[in-house]
Amino acid sequence: PHTPVCIIGAGPSGLLLARLLRLNGIDSVVLERRTRAHVEKRVRAGLLEQGTVEVLRDAGVGERLDREALVHEGFEWRLDGVVHRMPFTELCGASVWMYGQQEVVKDLLDAHGDGPGLHFGVEDVRIASVTADGARVVCTIDGQPTELTCDFIAGCDGFHGVSRQAVPGTELVGHELTHPFAWLGVLAAAPPLSPELIYAVGDRGFALQSMRSQQVSRLYLSVPPGEGVDERGDEEIWRELDLRLTGGRGTLPTGEILERVMVPLRSFVAEPFQYRRLFLVGDAAHIVPPSAAKGLNMAVADARHLAEALADWYAHGRREALDGYSATAVPRAWQGQQFSASMTTLMHAAPDETVFDRRLRRARFERLLSSTAEATAFAEQYTGIARR
Ligand code: FAD
Ligand code: DHB
Repeated sequence: PHTPVCIIGAGPSGLLLARLLRLNGIDSVVLERRTRAHVEKRVRAGLLEQGTVEVLRDAGVGERLDREALVHEGFEWRLDGVVHRMPFTELCGASVWMYGQQEVVKDLLDAHGDGPGLHFGVEDVRIASVTADGARVVCTIDGQPTELTCDFIAGCDGFHGVSRQAVPGTELVGHELTHPFAWLGVLAAAPPLSPELIYAVGDRGFALQSMRSQQVSRLYLSVPPGEGVDERGDEEIWRELDLRLTGGRGTLPTGEILERVMVPLRSFVAEPFQYRRLFLVGDAAHIVPPSAAKGLNMAVADARHLAEALADWYAHGRREALDGYSATAVPRAWQGQQFSASMTTLMHAAPDETVFDRRLRRARFERLLSSTAEATAFAEQYTGIARR
């Protein structure tokens, strides 16, 4: 069979792209390796920038989000036990929304309904050829070996997917930076300690208090790289979180740990994001450390951009926007990288940190907390309005 656009991967970027194409009357086929249940339950990001929320509303999937998401106008820094509020909305006019990535995925799947072209449990996806006019993908759908031809491939299959691997090594350069920390994340049936996020930095290391609702918290601890996800017992995790977030007052609400995840702090950009008729979108093209919560937001920005470019092609035969996808999306990805790297180095002490480094970090915080210009620049990047 032939389809205009073959989308590999049903994460947020693939599903949003399919949705936006559909709204423009463009058919696509989505090939996802995992089951639908797995994709719906995969707990990951939770902070949506204002621009992301606007894209989701425009895509007709903003209704439950507008009803259930928690709108945030500031967060707290907790620096060596001292609390400072970062009132980002007051500073730059933009808010952020707390709403789980898997909820976004569910809303996109619901909007798709029983529509055609969405395949789960697809095995052995392989890009057989990509030329200047089209592409061929082979895979196994419902046990049936299948060959698809298409005008375009959207590689929305994440960091470990097959799309990026299909680009010849001479046509793609990967830039990577691995930070010497990881985050142990937990989702817990416990109310958040405070209604706003807390980014805590102190001698014991970094901790983040976030939430998914009034009853469910999302908490992260920085840990040495290479630590196993099950190395610490639940009690030890709660004790360490309480030490870093409250100074050991024992006031952090605890509850059942519903899910654990180990997130490596890694930065990666593959350049360019296009090879002939193959376009890389979201984590397939770039990943950021979670520090600034940019990964999902960057994926949404790419998907929207590619959808608009494809709509221009199919409606008007214009290829300028498609040809310009990489030239626009790559610098935007680097903006996401620089802010994510900057928050990462601000909030973490490297294992080999010197006293000089530590003083520099302290000085960066002092500027952020004393200069309105500096705080406003931070707020613009945190809420994403600086990247549009
Ligand atoms: P993905 O969500 O990775 O989706 C890719 C899809 O492709 C998946 O469904 C996968 O199963 C499928 N796929 C892969 N290979 C194949 C194949 N060969 N064939 C078919 N399908 C395939 N970002 C934040 O902003 N804040 C956070 O707190 C945060 N926490 C994270 C925690 C974890 C553990 C991880 C892994 C990421 C986190 N991120 C976070 C990043 C964010 O979740 C990603 O940036 C976002 O999921 C990117 O969306 P995507 O659709 O591009 O890729
Ligand atoms: C979340 C994750 C982040 O990395 C962050 O900076 C803020 C919130 C979260 O999962 O809620």
